[in-house]
Amino acid sequence: MTVKIGLLGFGTVASGIPFLLKENTEKIQQAAQEEIEIAKVLVRDDAEKERLEAAGHAYHFVTNVDEILADDEIQIVVELMGRIEPAKTFISRALEAGKHVVTANKDLLAVHGSELRGLATKHGVALYYEAAVAGGIPILRTLSNSFVSDKVTRVLGVLNGTSNFMMTKMVDEGWTYEEALKTAQELGYAESDPTNDVEGIDAAYKAVILSQFAFGMTIDFDNVEHKGISKISPDDVAVAQELGYVIKLVGDIRETASGLSAEVSPTFLPKAHPLASVNGVMNAVFMESIGIGQSMYYGPGAGQKPTAASVTADIIRIVRRLQDQTVGKAFNEFSRPLQLAAPDDVRSEYYFSIVAPDKTGTLLQLAEMFNAEEISFKQILQQASDGKQARLVIVTHSMSKTQLENVTAKLAAAGDFTLQNTFKVLGE
Ligand code: NDP
Ligand code: HSE
Repeated sequence: MTVKIGLLGFGTVASGIPFLLKENTEKIQQAAQEEIEIAKVLVRDDAEKERLEAAGHAYHFVTNVDEILADDEIQIVVELMGRIEPAKTFISRALEAGKHVVTANKDLLAVHGSELRGLATKHGVALYYEAAVAGGIPILRTLSNSFVSDKVTRVLGVLNGTSNFMMTKMVDEGWTYEEALKTAQELGYAESDPTNDVEGIDAAYKAVILSQFAFGMTIDFDNVEHKGISKISPDDVAVAQELGYVIKLVGDIRETASGLSAEVSPTFLPKAHPLASVNGVMNAVFMESIGIGQSMYYGPGAGQKPTAASVTADIIRIVRRLQDQTVGKAFNEFSRPLQLAAPDDVRSEYYFSIVAPDKTGTLLQLAEMFNAEEISFKQILQQASDGKQARLVIVTHSMSKTQLENVTAKLAAAGDFTLQNTFKVLGE
């Protein structure tokens, strides 16, 4: 028997699936114990269908999703169109029709995942999405299978390939922001709206999904604070280097005494930290847990073949489970009520970049402001001055989010100070 699949979309990722099915047939057949056939492919319109056919793609292209959803022979629907709608409607309809679904759509899963997982459970079908987090790194299945005996306490991740690629090219090779973004788009790394990549939104979606697998808690996307690489200035990069750090966009999810905290922000990483050497399109998930201790999972976070490999692995897993008659099992079974961390419990060292009058008493004024919030300085330096204004850089000892909010408000109220940036600093 052959298991038939229907692809929704035939862009960067979807067009990588045939490569794996063709180049790795023997192993895939052994694992799946069935043949897998791409029976139909949904494309946007007739022009796209003609373009793909002319390019030599010999698939049954359709332009109406009903041709896939109403086809009883198609058992698995693979959504690779991206964005929320119509993907949400199509996936919901597929699940309701008793079809198993594979997707890489983190936007959708982060925002509507509970509803879709509920539908999958109700209809006894599979909803798998390994590729939604860190592209080619098999992190979700690792968390739900291999970490089953362990308790994760913190997850730190370089979770967006596009922004990491851009930062690497800009910092190491002097590319402009525009050149780096254009190349990331050409290489198929970026989202259709790259704002999601550069503003930390895509990484925040991934943090939502990781929270479920690592901590069993479904945090709302709105509860994941996010800042992107567009906030980083060349001055920040230079001072980081001078102080022995590398700046990366890092997702940080941790369980404190009061609950879960998740955020995405540019972060100063000590050069010796394993995440500091994750460059280009590579992603990594660095985990702290009570059993294994520290471990890191590293690989390409975006790109056609790595992502298609994760998607195809999900398809194969479903086909095998159809054989074994265990297909209704949830992708992630770890679930407990959400409790959000109190801001007092979320502590980090911080970098402050402040423009201030270059005159006697400025440092004293700053020291008093920080001291009033019981924030202590770890490092302080004056970076540049035009005689009137100076750029002051402060790295603090560990402080809480509450202290951060308070001192930020005080700096704004003082009038003389312009707070250019505050980034988290990971301690040694
Ligand atoms: P692409 O934009 O390359 O491909 C999406 C395809 O779907 C396009 O051809 C698009 O057509 C088509 N499409 C969109 N809407 C419809 C529709 N209503 N009907 C028919 N076709 C439609 O995206 P990717 O392949 O890069 O990404 C696919 C998914 O995988 C996304 O959810 C993305 O976030 C995720 N992902 C991507 C990774 C990557 O490295 N690229 C890595 C991990 C996850 P058109 O061009 O006309 O809009
Ligand atoms: N645009 C995403 C990235 C794709 O660059 O990481 C992988 O999720």
